[in-house]
Amino acid sequence: MLCCPLDQLPLTLTDRHARCANGHHFDRSREGYWPLLPAHFKRSRDPGDSRDMVRARGRFLDQGHYRALVNAMRTLLADAELPIGQYVLDAGCGEGYYLHQLQQQLGWPAHQCVGMDISKWAVRDAAKRASAITWVVGTNRQPPVAPASARLLLCLFGFQCYPAFHDVLAPGGELLLADPGPDHLLELRQLLYAEVQHKPLPTAARAEAAGLEAVAQQRVRYRISLDAAALADLALMTPHFFRANAERRAALAKLESLSVQLDVVLHRLRRPAI
Ligand SMILES: C[S@@+](CC[C@H](N)C(=O)[O-])C[C@H]1O[C@@H](n2cnc3c(N)ncnc32)[C@H](O)[C@@H]1O
Ligand SMILES: [Zn+2]
Repeated sequence: MLCCPLDQLPLTLTDRHARCANGHHFDRSREGYWPLLPAHFKRSRDPGDSRDMVRARGRFLDQGHYRALVNAMRTLLADAELPIGQYVLDAGCGEGYYLHQLQQQLGWPAHQCVGMDISKWAVRDAAKRASAITWVVGTNRQPPVAPASARLLLCLFGFQCYPAFHDVLAPGGELLLADPGPDHLLELRQLLYAEVQHKPLPTAARAEAAGLEAVAQQRVRYRISLDAAALADLALMTPHFFRANAERRAALAKLESLSVQLDVVLHRLRRPAI
């Protein structure tokens, strides 16, 4: 499934090393993931979500607040097939919660699942979460997999690179997108910003412009009740907290609980079969 990020040649894997026919060589990390992000692909020294953001997201998701969202993803993907020898790629997988949940709930064999993120902190935690899944540090801009090879692609609140996503999908392969809807985390944003921006309903227009065709969509809305610890983790795992001023952050830290609206739009799209 994996290719050399430098020349796209297939990688031959042993337990500890990966090598392409041109002699490029990658050592598997101690935690079991594959570091396939060459230094000159990085736009900063430590790209992607920080260790603290990743840890906060892991603690928050493990409490099950997004379980109903996973159930909606599972239902939307219920008839999407993953034949033997094909694979699913979670592009921007974070610390692996969704890929692991979907793999278990939809019965995908773990060895046909690949999670990739540009943050080594995220991939490190993902490898601890589910060691049988293949985890990769890499970029959605140039995923280190063969062209036209992925049966399923997930991009869940992730960094969307449509030309690359289109090219990585096998003909007939499908993409699941999750994007925040207009009311997503509304009460948290009201606390952190003086003025809450109204965002329009996300569409799949950019994916369609890249050549993918819409299959299905669903809007998932429900409320969650959070205690102070969960609220602190939710704030940390989103960009909102970092954009807010000190006074508003302090007000958030004093709250003992909050009811928060979740509003997520799922799109299922397909690369047309030739
Ligand atoms: C909002 S988080 C979502 C993570 C996960 N999908 C989830 O929903 O829990 C966005 C993720 O995209 C990753 N990311 C940012 N730029 C990326 C890139 N160019 N390629 C791959 N991942 C990227 C970040 O490190 C972060 O883990
Ligand atoms: Zn190579």
